[in-house]
Amino acid sequence: KRCIAVMTSGGDAPGMNSNVRAIVRTIIFHNCKPFVVYEGYEGLLHGNIKEVLWEDVRDWNAMGGTLIGTARSPDFKRREGRIQGAHNLINFGIDALIVCGGDGSLTGADIFRSEWPDLIKELLDTNKITEEQYKRHQHLNICGTVGSIDNDMSSTDTTIGAYSALDRICEAVDYVEATAKSHSRAFVIEVMGRNCGWLALMTGISTAADYIFIPETPASSETWREEMCDTVSKHRARNKRTTMVVVAEGAIADDLKPITASDIHETLTKRLGLDTRITTLGHVQRGGSAVAYDRILANLQGVEAVNAVLESTPTSPSPIITVNENKINRKSLVESVRLTKSVAEAIKAKDFKKAMSLRETE
Ligand code: F6P
Repeated sequence: KRCIAVMTSGGDAPGMNSNVRAIVRTIIFHNCKPFVVYEGYEGLLHGNIKEVLWEDVRDWNAMGGTLIGTARSPDFKRREGRIQGAHNLINFGIDALIVCGGDGSLTGADIFRSEWPDLIKELLDTNKITEEQYKRHQHLNICGTVGSIDNDMSSTDTTIGAYSALDRICEAVDYVEATAKSHSRAFVIEVMGRNCGWLALMTGISTAADYIFIPETPASSETWREEMCDTVSKHRARNKRTTMVVVAEGAIADDLKPITASDIHETLTKRLGLDTRITTLGHVQRGGSAVAYDRILANLQGVEAVNAVLESTPTSPSPIITVNENKINRKSLVESVRLTKSVAEAIKAKDFKKAMSLRETE
């Protein structure tokens, strides 16, 4: 029987539990053995791994967070950590690992996969595994399912958790709107997303915000204050009692300096004399149960991930499960990681045109 493990890694995202549930049950459906790795890569290198049963994941669809835990593991970024992780997988007889996480976690998975032959050779040379184990574990199948509220992974239209976070943000902005209207106030709403502006952009559309700041189209460092104040003033001149400015946590100006909620607060207060408050939504955005869309996506991608593992050959590239124009697909994990990195590098190099065109070709 094949032994397949699943793990969640990086920031938790609503829908991860649905994904794990679907993966575990599909593994059992195919008459293989499911394992979970607790606490992400940290658990992998400490051997926090357990075989699970069908009923262990019962009722997981409606649960928020990730019930198998996650951690950001600096130790796994080091080779010694990865050697330890490989040793643990082999000891449990595991030959495939499905990782649900964001771009950082999937990059880690890709490094692990590419180093696998060297890692197991070292384990053999240092007598940590037997010749028989070495022969049986020549290949580690890796498959990624993308779970992140940021929606920042190349090659997929949506990551598991992004729509739940967006829903939570919209609900919070609606609450804030009521109090803002009562006092005729301005609010600066800071949303998560790391270096990606998807949550801020979609919040802007969904809540009809007055102005947004996102990393992908950096505002002019010289004129953004004036431009924002012009727009806000126009809206106020039409008797609008509230002002909502949404800022992505990674928002930058074209000189690459961050545009922060307090910069915006100061500008609205000093230039327009608006009574302004800042609401940083923080981890509320990641909490709570997943919206139906994320549950469906997580289930469909979980089933596909197991199928991909079972159909893979020693020479086939590691897949990532994506959704494109509403269809579940398999794409190359290496290529998706490469594209995601290129976007970040283009932004760092101030080549915003290239960053945008890379995002479009995804
Ligand atoms: O990647 C998901 C995310 O929520 C980002 O939006 C945010 O920048 C980061 O994680 C917060 O990380 P932590 O939970 O470690 O504070």
